[in-house]
Amino acid sequence: MLSVAILAAGKGTRMESSLPKVLHKVSGKSLLQRVIDSCVELNPDQIFVIIGHKSKEVQDSIPNNKKINFVIQDPQSGTGHAIQVLCREVKKNKGKLLVLNGDVPLIKPKTLKKLLNLHDSKDADVSLITTKKKNPHGYGRVFLDGGFIERIVEEKDCNDQERLNLLINAGVYCFNWENLSKIILTLQSNNNQKEIYLTDTVSLLKNSLSLEIEDNGELQGINNRIQLSKCEEIIQNSIKEMHMLNGVTFINKASCSISEEAEIGKDVIIEANTHIRGTTKIFNNCVIGPNTFIENSNVGVHCEISNSTVYDSHIMDNIKVGPYSHIRPNSKISSYSKIGNFVEIKNSQLEEKSKVNHLSYIGDSIIGSFTNIGAGTITANFDGKKKHQTKIGKNSLIGANTVFVAPINIGESVTTGAGSVITKDSKDNSLAISRTKQINIENWERKKS
Ligand code: UD1
Ligand code: MG
Repeated sequence: MLSVAILAAGKGTRMESSLPKVLHKVSGKSLLQRVIDSCVELNPDQIFVIIGHKSKEVQDSIPNNKKINFVIQDPQSGTGHAIQVLCREVKKNKGKLLVLNGDVPLIKPKTLKKLLNLHDSKDADVSLITTKKKNPHGYGRVFLDGGFIERIVEEKDCNDQERLNLLINAGVYCFNWENLSKIILTLQSNNNQKEIYLTDTVSLLKNSLSLEIEDNGELQGINNRIQLSKCEEIIQNSIKEMHMLNGVTFINKASCSISEEAEIGKDVIIEANTHIRGTTKIFNNCVIGPNTFIENSNVGVHCEISNSTVYDSHIMDNIKVGPYSHIRPNSKISSYSKIGNFVEIKNSQLEEKSKVNHLSYIGDSIIGSFTNIGAGTITANFDGKKKHQTKIGKNSLIGANTVFVAPINIGESVTTGAGSVITKDSKDNSLAISRTKQINIENWERKKS
């Protein structure tokens, strides 16, 4: 039987934040969610999340999962106290108890499995993950004696000699729960932080083992914003390296961010300051950026998107977007179309080879194929209460500065005169024009003031 306890009750004082520490995010996902996702892969029988500080906020952040039980620790008197509360609350303290610090978010399921295997093969009372850090500042130091862990000393309790020890406790433990519960209530808080430390259990249990792994970044703990940013860097580096090995070029890697869910095809060039978020898919041979933000969108092959923002939309193949375009949710831009400078598109569908090249707003619209929308065209979709649709048929030629007052239905091969305000539907092959005729008064003399 495998149970998991995730320690997430602390305030995270060193974050200097009103948000509980475990709800801070790295690459779009909270620290706590990351730890949960890692341990779920082990298929444990039950997961306990120990909450305390702003417990409701923390609990509400986690989507429903039958295996997760929340345990309240109040007050929060230390990591050992958190497990005391758990042991009291849960009647059957049996099998293995994997304890994970909620602020060590990059731990990999593979590493957790290794720990469980070591624990089982040696029938240990406790096994925990350690690593040698060049700069161990802030971590508990692990002291070994003949292959067993003798004790762990927290940074704040270390003397000068102890502080030189580079072997640190990662905050990831596997306990024989039955044996742990026999000693857990005897933990004391006679230390410099006046807290009950979980780390003191290693001296009280007999068979305490260390699984030392290489310091590859996955054990990074987060106590302050410097470590939060370090963690972000570790994740981002690994995501970008994976894409580079799969055929993606980054012109200025450090200035870009890519979500873990994003998929990017081969021979895609990501220019500087480009951010690909959520479940975005970019297909082969695109150039994305510079200065571009794309979230939850699909971009087909051979597209070029520069200096633009795209949300929740579908951009098909061979399309140029930008510079300075804003494509808002639920838009579909069909192949060989062009969305140009200072153009905003929202909840609209553009058929193949249509063009909206300059300074336009196209909202709640359907634009037919081969239609050219002249500079400055606006679909006036809002009557103060409701949004309405604009439909423009294929092969139409919309004059510069046309305003369509929706709801409106414009046929195929329609031409509109520049500067027209179009309020009535137009049939196929018609010219729609609505503007006063120009008068030229010759030899006009200006009034003298
Ligand atoms: C802890 C370890 C340290 C280790 C480091 C690894 C102890 C005493 N020290 O130190 O040896 O090197 O993690 O990152 O365990 N929490 C509760 N209830 C509490 C206090 C804390 O649930 O009463 C939770 C926190 O929300 C956090 C986790 O436990 O997620 C660790 O607490 P933190 O205060 O960050 O411990 P560290 O000082 O990092
Ligand atoms: Mg910590």
